[in-house]
Amino acid sequence: MTFGYYSILMPVIAQKLPYNVYSIQDIGKTRLATKNFVPGTRVYGEKLVSKNGIEYRLWSPHRSKLAAMIEKGMNIPIAQDSSVLYLGAASGTTASHVSDMVTTGRVFAVEFAPRVMRDLINVCIPRRNLIPILADAAKPVSYKAITGMVDVIYQDVAQPGQAGIAIANARESLKPGGHLIMVIKARSVDSTVNPKQVFNQELEKLYTEFNVLDTKELEPFHKDHLALVAIIKPQKKQVYEDKN
Ligand SMILES: C[S@@+](CC[C@H](N)C(=O)[O-])C[C@H]1O[C@@H](n2cnc3c(N)ncnc32)[C@H](O)[C@@H]1O
Repeated sequence: MTFGYYSILMPVIAQKLPYNVYSIQDIGKTRLATKNFVPGTRVYGEKLVSKNGIEYRLWSPHRSKLAAMIEKGMNIPIAQDSSVLYLGAASGTTASHVSDMVTTGRVFAVEFAPRVMRDLINVCIPRRNLIPILADAAKPVSYKAITGMVDVIYQDVAQPGQAGIAIANARESLKPGGHLIMVIKARSVDSTVNPKQVFNQELEKLYTEFNVLDTKELEPFHKDHLALVAIIKPQKKQVYEDKN
């Protein structure tokens, strides 16, 4: 694994980790962790580790695609004060680590399955920067008034039309210069064709609105998943021509 800029007890600096994300030593192994925003609480049974009076939550790349992206050396454009629109939050496993990262920002966690939303709400109760929204990510107009304009869209919806959902949300809610972090699950788009073909089809759609900065497949942590980081393209200037 790559060693973090903020690594604890680690001499090697090879990658700048996002704010509040650390490489820590735990029983002789180097592991990813976030500084716990709500000390003393676990979200999904993850291990808590205390060092020098600070509590960290271990973050497994096998459990979280965002952790896998960091393990694979991708630069994640989430800052301490970012507002993040998180699409496909499920029961809050990864969303809780994003909440650890944006201590002065916000995470709007969109999920459309009522069963997992109940768990997500319990995760949000002690985390004042994590806001649950029961909604369909394909209808961003329905929650735009709650989120306002955001710095980052993180999308992990695992359903067909993934690029279309990202584009629709960016048009409604992404600030100029804002970033998209997205995971494309090939089998959810089309399980009958080669995953690489699916990745290219989805990327082709994204190129209309975004400049893609980085892509990485998430093997060996997640099979047939492509992760990407992109920045929204600047809007073209509208030039009015008087034809009279
Ligand atoms: C792969 S899981 C997300 C896992 C989560 N990101 C994590 O790392 O903890 C995908 C989630 O997206 C949700 N989802 C799929 N399509 C959606 C949509 N159109 N709107 C909102 N949520 C959606 C599913 O219900 C599911 O909980």
